[in-house]
Amino acid sequence: MDLSCLFCRKHYRQPVPGRIFQAGPGRYVPHLQEAFDHLDTGLSQITRPFFSLLCTLRSATCLPGANRLLYYPDCYNEYFTDNLSAGMTMKLLAFNGSPRKKGSTATLLRHAMDGAGAEGADTEIIDLYDLRYQGCTSCFACKRIGGKSYGHCAVQDDLAPVLQKAETADALLIGSPIYFSLTSGMTRSFLERLAYPYAVYDKPRSTLFPKKIRTGFIYTAGASDAMVTEMGYDRSEKVTEMAMARIFGACESLWVTDTVLFDDYTRYESSLFDPAAKKKHREEQFPIDCKKAYELGARLVRNG
Ligand SMILES: Cc1cc2nc3c(=O)[nH]c(=O)nc-3n(C[C@H](O)[C@H](O)[C@H](O)COP(=O)(O)O)c2cc1C
Repeated sequence: MDLSCLFCRKHYRQPVPGRIFQAGPGRYVPHLQEAFDHLDTGLSQITRPFFSLLCTLRSATCLPGANRLLYYPDCYNEYFTDNLSAGMTMKLLAFNGSPRKKGSTATLLRHAMDGAGAEGADTEIIDLYDLRYQGCTSCFACKRIGGKSYGHCAVQDDLAPVLQKAETADALLIGSPIYFSLTSGMTRSFLERLAYPYAVYDKPRSTLFPKKIRTGFIYTAGASDAMVTEMGYDRSEKVTEMAMARIFGACESLWVTDTVLFDDYTRYESSLFDPAAKKKHREEQFPIDCKKAYELGARLVRNG
């Protein structure tokens, strides 16, 4: 059992009855009182009564002997943001939606991780193609009022622990190659499982994700910049970006075009491409794109 505190992410070996409050699988607050104290003193404008008004009680269960847990998503955001300046380590979780572990997408993600690392963040890349999972099965357990999976994906496969981990991250970055004009199928299936459970079908289109975090995409395409615009790839991904922003928080995308498909173009039917032009682009433009990825990674975890 992962006993990491929602607020400070300190790890605890075992629950301490009466002290650790459980807020769903893997989400614990061992010292809620300290959080209250901090909110009262450090966060100035949010006074306790207003704070209480903001509270949303969600899927909270208690360990034996523990007090009732109230889970405060809005105030948690404030607490969290405030604590960044107090030296908390940010965690950037990235997902490689390409089957190629040394391809353009993976390379760019690694540069993004370097950028985040330089800002002092913890980073991790998860290769989606190493996992066995499927897309949303439309069971709607995540939407069932009072259901035990409300707000969370109920499907138990390799993605289940990954989705739990994503909920504790401070920033998410998803890299995908463009396959047949859209993200790769594995990326799409991942996004369905990651984002849909948090999206509430209510009038304000609210989200159940417990905090506001930054998110980003790195898309890589074999087509040129001009073709990406002409074919409208970036337009369709704009919709995904908007949904991510609504569910998780600010979202930005980096498009890297004219990428390399083959190591040796002479061995594959590829008369559409000019191998010399591809090589030149790789040598001249790709390092610039890697730098942009580095800066994106840094931005995702930077305070303010
Ligand atoms: C199945 C498949 C479909 C592809 N479809 C497109 C496409 O529609 N448009 C495009 O620009 N590139 C397409 N590509 C090229 C990849 O998007 C591009 O080479 C990408 O950068 C590969 O990323 P990777 O090196 O990380 O694997 C396709 C590649 C594959 C394997």
